[in-house]
Amino acid sequence: MAQSQGKVYIVGGGPGDPELLTLKAKSVIESADVIIYADSLVHPSIVDFAKPGAEVHGSKTLNLSEIMELTLESVRQGKTVARIQSGDPSIYGAVLEQMRILEEAQVDYEIIPGVSAAFAAAARLKVELTIPGGSQTVIMTRAQGRVSMPPGEQLKDLAAHGSTLVIFLSITRMFTVVRQLLEAGYTESTPVAVVYRVGWPDEKIIRGTLSDIAAKVRDAKITLQALIMVGEAMDPALLHHVPTTANGVSSSHLYASDYTHLYRRAEGESSDVEEGSSVDGGQ
Ligand SMILES: C[S@@+](CC[C@H](N)C(=O)[O-])C[C@H]1O[C@@H](n2cnc3c(N)ncnc32)[C@H](O)[C@@H]1O
Repeated sequence: MAQSQGKVYIVGGGPGDPELLTLKAKSVIESADVIIYADSLVHPSIVDFAKPGAEVHGSKTLNLSEIMELTLESVRQGKTVARIQSGDPSIYGAVLEQMRILEEAQVDYEIIPGVSAAFAAAARLKVELTIPGGSQTVIMTRAQGRVSMPPGEQLKDLAAHGSTLVIFLSITRMFTVVRQLLEAGYTESTPVAVVYRVGWPDEKIIRGTLSDIAAKVRDAKITLQALIMVGEAMDPALLHHVPTTANGVSSSHLYASDYTHLYRRAEGESSDVEEGSSVDGGQ
C-alpha cells in the first residue's frame, strides 16, 4: 500500500524569545518529525520543544534546492516537516519560492504566523507605531542594497509620506539610510530607535535622532540583525505628555468617554447607535 504523504508547516518562529512562539507554533514543533530551522535568526532553544528522535536541521548553510529536497523527501515518507522561519514568515521570509515548489509537488502545507521582530521591537520600546494625531501608517521596508528596490519604493519615496518606518535588513547601510531620510524631508530631530536582536539575551536598544543615530550604531558595532525604526512614534516623551496637533486629535478615540461607536455610547448620549454610524472599532 502506498504510504500517505506528510505535511509541511511553515512556522513563524518569532524574534528569538521562545516565549513569543504562538501555542500553535509550539505544538507543531512538538509533533514534527523533521525540523528545518533558520539557525541564523531563530533561537536554538526553540528546538528544545522537538520530540525525542525528531530530525533537526539548521538551514543557514543550505540553499533553497537543498532545503526543498529535504522537505519533499521527508513528506514523501509520510513525515511532518516544520520549516521554522524567523519572526513572521510573510515579512522577508523568502517563503513564496518555497510555496511554489510545494504547490507544484502538490504537497499539503500550512503557514503558522509568528511575532515579527517589528512588533517585538515596538513592545520593547514601549511605543505605539500608529500614533493618534500623528502618523496612522506604518511602512515596513528595506534600503536598497544587493537587492534592488522597485520604482517608487526607494527610501526617499517612502520617506516622503512622513509615516512610521520600520526598516529591515539595512543596518550596514545606516549612514546612507539617514542621508536618504533627511533628503526626503525628515528632520534632524526625528526620533529613531535601533533594536538589535530583540528577544535574545544580548539584545541592544539604541535611541537617538537622525542627527546622531548612525554614529551611535557605528560606535556600538551593530552590523546585523537589527531594525531601524523611524518617526515621531519613537519619541519616548509621548509616554508622558499629549502633544497638541494640527487637527486637535491627540489621543485615540477608542476609549474616549465622549465618543460613540458600534459597541458603546458616549456618556450622556441617549439615541440608539446605527450600525453604519460606527467607525471600525472607534480608534
Ligand atoms: C530575513 S529578515 C526576516 C524578518 C522576519 N520575518 C520578521 O518578521 O521579523 C531578517 C531581518 O529582520 C530583522 N530581524 C529579524 N530578527 C530580528 C531580531 N530578533 N531583532 C532585530 N531585528 C531582527 C533584521 O532587520 C534582519 O536583518
